[in-house]
Amino acid sequence: MLSVALFAVLSTLAAASPAKVNVVRERNNVSPFVSPSGLNLTYSSKYNSSLPNVVIMATGGTIAGSGAGAASSGVYSAGAIGVEALIQAVPDMLNISNIYGYQIANVGSPSINSTIQLAIAKAANAILCAPGSVTDGVVVTHGTDTLEETAFFLDLTVNCGKPVVIVGAMRPATAYSADGPANLLQAVTAAASPLSKDRGALITMNDRVGSAWYTQKTHVNYLDTFKAPEPGYLGGFFNNELFYYNSPATPTFKKTFNVNNLTSLPRVDIVYGQQEFDGRLLEAALAFGDVKGLVIASPNGGVGADAAIARVAGRIPVVRHVRINVGMIAPSERVPTGNATISSGLVNNQKSRIQLMLALGTGADPRETFEEPLRSILYGK
Ligand SMILES: *[C@@H]1O[C@H](CO)[C@@H](O)[C@H](O)[C@H]1NC(C)=O
Ligand SMILES: *[C@@H]1O[C@H](CO)[C@@H](O)[C@H](O)[C@H]1NC(C)=O
Ligand SMILES: *[C@@H]1O[C@H](CO)[C@@H](O)[C@H](O)[C@H]1NC(C)=O
Ligand SMILES: *[C@@H]1O[C@H](CO)[C@@H](O)[C@H](O)[C@H]1NC(C)=O
Ligand SMILES: *[C@@H]1O[C@H](CO)[C@@H](O)[C@H](O)[C@H]1NC(C)=O
Ligand SMILES: *[C@@H]1O[C@H](CO)[C@@H](O)[C@H](O)[C@H]1NC(C)=O
Repeated sequence: MLSVALFAVLSTLAAASPAKVNVVRERNNVSPFVSPSGLNLTYSSKYNSSLPNVVIMATGGTIAGSGAGAASSGVYSAGAIGVEALIQAVPDMLNISNIYGYQIANVGSPSINSTIQLAIAKAANAILCAPGSVTDGVVVTHGTDTLEETAFFLDLTVNCGKPVVIVGAMRPATAYSADGPANLLQAVTAAASPLSKDRGALITMNDRVGSAWYTQKTHVNYLDTFKAPEPGYLGGFFNNELFYYNSPATPTFKKTFNVNNLTSLPRVDIVYGQQEFDGRLLEAALAFGDVKGLVIASPNGGVGADAAIARVAGRIPVVRHVRINVGMIAPSERVPTGNATISSGLVNNQKSRIQLMLALGTGADPRETFEEPLRSILYGK
């Protein structure tokens, strides 16, 4: 276990005022402490000025999960272990970086919602992107079921070139072969590395690094579940040493949003299309009144129900992606009756929901948000 006798506080980790930037103070027994922008941080090592500074924002999930015993890898409570215990379980992280912990939530990923996502994005912008910030990278620990949604959210909302790395685990901390500790060590390695700059948000799981924009969960049970089926991985770890295949780039189709002044986002739901789809669920969603946008996950050829879709698309933005969740929808596809659905392009269903919420919440034009990058990449206009 770590000695917590001596703490060094980077008072500027969340510098609200640029005047406090780069003031490094050493203190005794000040964990947890409140950073200038009001984040409760814990600090977990003797401060070493030659190491980078990484903030771990913990939200819960399997990586913080506790099972009945070591053989119990599929039945457990997610979000049972706090950020301090996560950090202390992987002391080698402290050879790589000074580590600060911030407990933002402690829940399974089905309970992560836009309120929590906004809180993470705003905290990451404050601590990482404020002028003169001495934080080098942020790691977000998260349950895996909706990890790609939060990762995509952060990719679109935290954009100062510094690494934001989202990580989880497929097995709880109490299981044999728990993958959380290695994943966390690799996430911190990626967040602390200058090699990770200017690549957008990243997902590190199972020895691989992927772009948060492209990566999705592809299997519910197994460790090698996070993949970007077409573009592939950005890099990986060899003996925990980070490497990238190519020099930095960000996803061509990416749009960014400033959410720093927002406290909530409009509600968007996803409706699944199948044989005999008749659009009743679209109308039902609209009847709730608080639904400001919809995503239809449909077969590529559409779902029929054109009149119902047109009625709904005439009232609120309706984005269409394919239910197999991989592939491109061409821009400007129109339902025959005239009220056009919005083409998702490459953005999968659950990520389209996030992008539509961000577009609506920030006042961006929903159709342009999705279709402008597609038109410009495909047709040069
Ligand atoms: C920080 O912790 C204190 C007490 O431990 C609590 O009252 C306060 O609400 C916390 N602030 C944040 C931003 O979590
Ligand atoms: C601080 O980090 C540097 C670089 O990794 C290392 O060489 C040095 O031994 C560390 N100092 C202490 C006191 O741990
Ligand atoms: C981390 O540092 C500790 C003590 O400074 C050392 O015993 C340990 O071997 C180091 N771990 C790695 C992976 O370098
Ligand atoms: C998200 O969850 C938190 C905690 O349960 C809750 O306070 C908040 O209202 C929820 N937000 C939304 C949009 O449901
Ligand atoms: C956020 O609010 C501040 C203060 O009201 C304002 O100066 C700033 O322009 C706003 N930013 C955005 C992106 O709306
Ligand atoms: C477009 O949507 C509006 C609002 O639902 C509806 O009144 C209108 O009939 C729709 N137009 C077409 C051509 O379907």
